[in-house]
Amino acid sequence: MVIEVISLTKELANIYGKDLLALNDCTWENWSLENLLADRTLKWEISYFVKAEGNLAGYAIASLLEPKTAHLHHIVISHSYRGIGIGRKLFLEISEKALGFGAQSMTLKVLKTNIRAINLYERIGFRKLDFDNCEYFKMIASLDEIINNIKYSI
Ligand SMILES: CC(C)(COP(=O)(O)OP(=O)(O)OC[C@H]1O[C@@H](n2cnc3c(N)ncnc32)[C@H](O)[C@@H]1OP(=O)(O)O)[C@@H](O)C(=O)NCCC(=O)NCCS
Repeated sequence: MVIEVISLTKELANIYGKDLLALNDCTWENWSLENLLADRTLKWEISYFVKAEGNLAGYAIASLLEPKTAHLHHIVISHSYRGIGIGRKLFLEISEKALGFGAQSMTLKVLKTNIRAINLYERIGFRKLDFDNCEYFKMIASLDEIINNIKYSI
């Protein structure tokens, strides 16, 4: 299957934004177009979307919250393309790009009930942080670890 991982520039976010958001079937995390288009540090440099067989298949939005920490705000793969490594490819692209901008680690928040996503994050190097929230885990991983884990597993 031909899978293209494409840098999500602001220009492309304006073109594909609505269609990308429509891939999200997670009722717990409904992003608005305004959220998607909001400027954040290095967001348009380290965010990506994916085309599979020419179809929009997913996206991952990240930015630098602190100088050395990239934060993954949102990741969604279309239902029909889950479980074939696209999520890992996105983590790899973001990690390599963020490393080039001087970041060393990545953080994310995930619903405690999203067990499959948590398992994936742990397999690629994330660990849970102490975080006082009954609904979400906050997780962190070093970018080197993510890159190594993914490169040896795909
Ligand atoms: C979580 C998500 C981004 C992973 O993307 P993906 O392309 O399916 O991930 P990969 O194919 O690289 O990895 C698949 C792994 O994730 C797990 N996984 C998590 N959710 C999955 C799903 N809904 N379908 C298939 N696999 C899923 C699988 O167990 C698999 O593990 P393995 O390959 O080690 O056996 C994607 O499943 C998704 O968009 N889920 C719904 C939205 C969501 O939960 N976003 C995260 C919010 S924090």
